[in-house]
Amino acid sequence: MQVGPVQIWPPVLLAPMEGVTDLTFRRLVRQIGGVGLTCTEFLPAEGLRQNGGQQRGRIAEMAAFDDDERPISVQIYGKRPEGMAEAARIVEAMGATLCDINMGCPSKKVCSHSGGSALMADLDLATEIVRHVRRAISIPLTVKMRSGFDATCRNAPELAYRCQEEGAQAVTVHWRTRADLYRGQRAVDKIAETVARLRIPVVGNGDVIDVSSAAAMFAETGCAAVMVGRGAMRDPWALRKITAAIEGQPEFEVTAAEKERVLLGYLDALLRRFDREQGALGRFKKISSYFVQGVPYGEEALRTPLLRSERIPEAEAHVRGYFQRLRAFEAGDTSAFAELLAEAPAD
Ligand SMILES: Cc1cc2nc3c(=O)[nH]c(=O)nc-3n(C[C@H](O)[C@H](O)[C@H](O)COP(=O)(O)O)c2cc1C
Repeated sequence: MQVGPVQIWPPVLLAPMEGVTDLTFRRLVRQIGGVGLTCTEFLPAEGLRQNGGQQRGRIAEMAAFDDDERPISVQIYGKRPEGMAEAARIVEAMGATLCDINMGCPSKKVCSHSGGSALMADLDLATEIVRHVRRAISIPLTVKMRSGFDATCRNAPELAYRCQEEGAQAVTVHWRTRADLYRGQRAVDKIAETVARLRIPVVGNGDVIDVSSAAAMFAETGCAAVMVGRGAMRDPWALRKITAAIEGQPEFEVTAAEKERVLLGYLDALLRRFDREQGALGRFKKISSYFVQGVPYGEEALRTPLLRSERIPEAEAHVRGYFQRLRAFEAGDTSAFAELLAEAPAD
């Protein structure tokens, strides 16, 4: 995928996720591989501006990226065109490869300030923001949106077209509307319509979790790339698996030992990142609640004990205990999860 002068390969992108895709999580995904572009969590334009380019505290943490994290996109949100332009200038000065504008976030915190997906109900303001930001920076500009505001206003193709005409160089469309939040019946028609209407690349997003859902997104929409969000927490190898399929490489299995190594490595990295043990533990539980969906008996045998953990060593012991059982199970010991099998209702 070509975004202005920036070549993005593989066409498999890690979605920005507040409270998830900080430097630590992005390092995890990058180490595993298969990711063409990473993006920071969204940054409030006003917060960036108030710090005047000298970022401190939480905003500095959210804005941080590694020197070798290239290409890197930094995402901003806000409703004031001048404020967004100023924030974009700061993003460019930080050395970001791309600047992304968030027009998809449904959270009350963001929308109550008319930023995020609230902009999908005010196309003139959204267009003005893109115009101001475009004039302020020379790095490529992209916009991330939902398919619309609600079922009666599925206007992503129109908004995306306006963004393109104002100089945006790629757009990402999540198939859900703002009103869908994270539910809703899968409908990628507005992504396909956006692809058909635009000259610039369109990234397809929403429930891409593995090779088959990525293939469906490409086939049904003609998108130039896919973006993976929650699927990367469920399976941090998902992007590498999708990339392997795109590049015609054979499918690969991730062993229990490798999953354990990566999960414990992530816990260790969180401990170094958070000053407080409880902060690291809270973040670990959040990511793990998705991760357990992608491993055998994860919900029952790993999630419950992890959620009850009050200290890091306790959580670590549960992870080790679970993977010991999983290795035995994979080696053919059917008794490894026997008590769970016994509880399972008969067909
Ligand atoms: C916990 C969480 C935080 C998110 N934070 C952001 C964000 O900061 N910026 C953004 O554009 N989208 C954000 N999103 C939306 C995702 O980028 C993505 O569009 C959405 O989750 C759909 O993709 P998925 O089905 O692959 O998860 C967030 C989603 C989740 C679940």
